[in-house]
Amino acid sequence: MEGGGCAMKILVLGATGSVGRRIVAEGLERGHHITAFVRSASKVQQKASNLRVVVGNVLDDTALARALEGQDAVAYTIGVRSPRPTTLFSDSTLKLVALMERQGVKRLVCITGVGAGETKGHGGFLYDRIGYPLITKNIYLDKDRQEEIIRGSSLEWTIVRPTVFREGQAKSEFQAVTEMRDIVLRRISRQEVANFVLDEVESGRFIHQSPFIGHAR
Ligand SMILES: NC(=O)c1ccc[n+]([C@@H]2O[C@H](COP(=O)([O-])OP(=O)(O)OC[C@H]3O[C@@H](n4cnc5c(N)ncnc54)[C@H](OP(=O)(O)O)[C@@H]3O)[C@@H](O)[C@H]2O)c1
Repeated sequence: MEGGGCAMKILVLGATGSVGRRIVAEGLERGHHITAFVRSASKVQQKASNLRVVVGNVLDDTALARALEGQDAVAYTIGVRSPRPTTLFSDSTLKLVALMERQGVKRLVCITGVGAGETKGHGGFLYDRIGYPLITKNIYLDKDRQEEIIRGSSLEWTIVRPTVFREGQAKSEFQAVTEMRDIVLRRISRQEVANFVLDEVESGRFIHQSPFIGHAR
């Protein structure tokens, strides 16, 4: 266990995604007990004694309730590829929050992203003028609803808002800001996001906050 901390039981929703699979790998490496929630078990290549796989859809209460049993924390990293209007984020979060409250799982670290709430307009010229209006706007309309549901819950939540993903490994320093002001964050690697989510699960540094994370250049 890195840093001498305690191993935690962490449920990863979206465990086959580009960030989710990095959270799973990094979490296993750090010695945590990871439950990977996936729609298709065949997409999970890894095998480890501290890895459990639960198959289900994030809109299915029964599967979610089963996956939540005995967990210390949930990392939510569900994503959609289509730019069309969606209610997946708000619908699934409504179910998730109710089940977590009922089952006594208190800690939720949820990834939304640049385009949610006051991060709008802080992703750099290309994203703010092209990426957001043409591709991610509908997604973020629902992520705004999702964030509201999380903030209204009794959970120990953290909303992680990464800026636009880039290829590459984790670098040493990136920013995590909770006051927007004039800040523009342009890029962050998926591994950096995965590391931040796990650091946050372990430390609780940003409980009841929504850090915007990324590199300014
Ligand atoms: N791309 C960016 O620049 C960027 C920037 C900031 C934030 N973000 C956000 O970061 C998050 C993670 O992104 P990503 O690239 O890792 O996403 P991704 O690769 O598209 O992965 C999405 C994950 O969600 C799962 N999923 C989707 N619908 C589901 C459902 N109904 N039930 C269960 N699982 C479901 C997918 O499962 P399957 O494998 O079965 O499809 C997959 O594991 C997303 O919320 C994204 O919006 C992205």
